[in-house]
Amino acid sequence: MGQYNINLHEAIYSLSDALDLVGVTHIHHGKRVAFMAAECAKRMGWQGKRVDDLFQAAILHDSGVSKTVVHERLAQFEWEQENEHCVLGEQLLQGCPLLAPLAPIVRHHHTHWSALKDMDLPEEIKLSANCIYLVDRVDVLSLAFLMDEDNLLLGRQQIRDKIIAKRGDWFCPELVDVFMEVSSSEAFWLSLENEHIDGYVSVWMSETRQQPMDFAALRSIVRIFSFIVDAKSAFTRQHSDGVARLARYLGTLFELSEDSCEMLELAGLLHDIGKLRQPDTLLEKTECLTPEEYAHIQRHSFDTYAILRNIKGMETITQWAAQHHERSDGSGYPYHLTNSRLSLEARIVAVADVFQALAQKRPYRDSLSPDAIMEMLDEMVSDGKLDREVVRQVAQHPQECWQRATGSEAPPAQ
Ligand SMILES: [Fe+2]
Ligand SMILES: [Fe+2]
Ligand SMILES: [Fe+2]
Repeated sequence: MGQYNINLHEAIYSLSDALDLVGVTHIHHGKRVAFMAAECAKRMGWQGKRVDDLFQAAILHDSGVSKTVVHERLAQFEWEQENEHCVLGEQLLQGCPLLAPLAPIVRHHHTHWSALKDMDLPEEIKLSANCIYLVDRVDVLSLAFLMDEDNLLLGRQQIRDKIIAKRGDWFCPELVDVFMEVSSSEAFWLSLENEHIDGYVSVWMSETRQQPMDFAALRSIVRIFSFIVDAKSAFTRQHSDGVARLARYLGTLFELSEDSCEMLELAGLLHDIGKLRQPDTLLEKTECLTPEEYAHIQRHSFDTYAILRNIKGMETITQWAAQHHERSDGSGYPYHLTNSRLSLEARIVAVADVFQALAQKRPYRDSLSPDAIMEMLDEMVSDGKLDREVVRQVAQHPQECWQRATGSEAPPAQ
């Protein structure tokens, strides 16, 4: 198994960038919540790992939200179905050993203090969860004012009053008192502006070093990214999983090293992460796309690059992932690279992506059989779009490829 050198804070930062895209309109929500939570924690006298855990949980607290529609609802002060994304966020983090300790915090980031205080959980978890709840609501209330910074200064008392009104009911009294202290200064509110938040989080990111991680550990982090993007639409569910399995399988057919095969799997899981920027409606549209919509869809592979570029140690994987819409004749996007400038691995991911998409049911057509897919892949080779060598390997194992792509047995040939 390959060893990777990854800075966990960088990976979390990229995850929060990915989550930011879901919001489309108000970015940096997770980062602002993390900043405010950390300020409260320090005022409470918390230190070291306790503050860092809170910061990580805060930045990731909305991992269970990948649909733009859910995101819009969460921007209301109160919403009955908010529990769902807490449970989903908890499950996601539980699947990753390095982040699993944060799962109960995320699970309860919308639990009222009146119920949470009597739950059988460590005090530290309860306070961290409630701290995130409090500052999360502050951020939601701030949105109305954030467009214009001066307005935020004028609106802060209104926001503070709303929080005080929930003291002891939604929020732990001690936390409310601490929040009132830290939020009494102009500096606190002005720090919520984009450039300050980014600076604050960059410092946090630089506080840790890269650490050796084995494939399983890195994969469990990467799975969080892919789960979030696949959960966005019923039609793309398990798309990233299927592309990852197929890309890895094709790697073995080319007798690539075990390390390269692992990296192919990771690139497959990550290739469409930039799709988080796309509104759900666009991904599920059955009619032809307008030129504007097509242009918007086309930016997703560059967005994949933009999200992942901050993670040192993952440069090659990022490149393969971001090049999945490049075409042999240079007609692809976003870089217009021709075959000679594309690595074998990037060409494999591109073929795996097309194969999986064709094997999957889409809003505008049914799932295609291995034979029908082969016909289309051959056509794309003749048109100079897909790599001949890679498609030749697929042609020798169409049933196996279909199985990897869909996770189920191929239908019998007709
Ligand atoms: Fe939130
Ligand atoms: Fe894509
Ligand atoms: Fe894709």
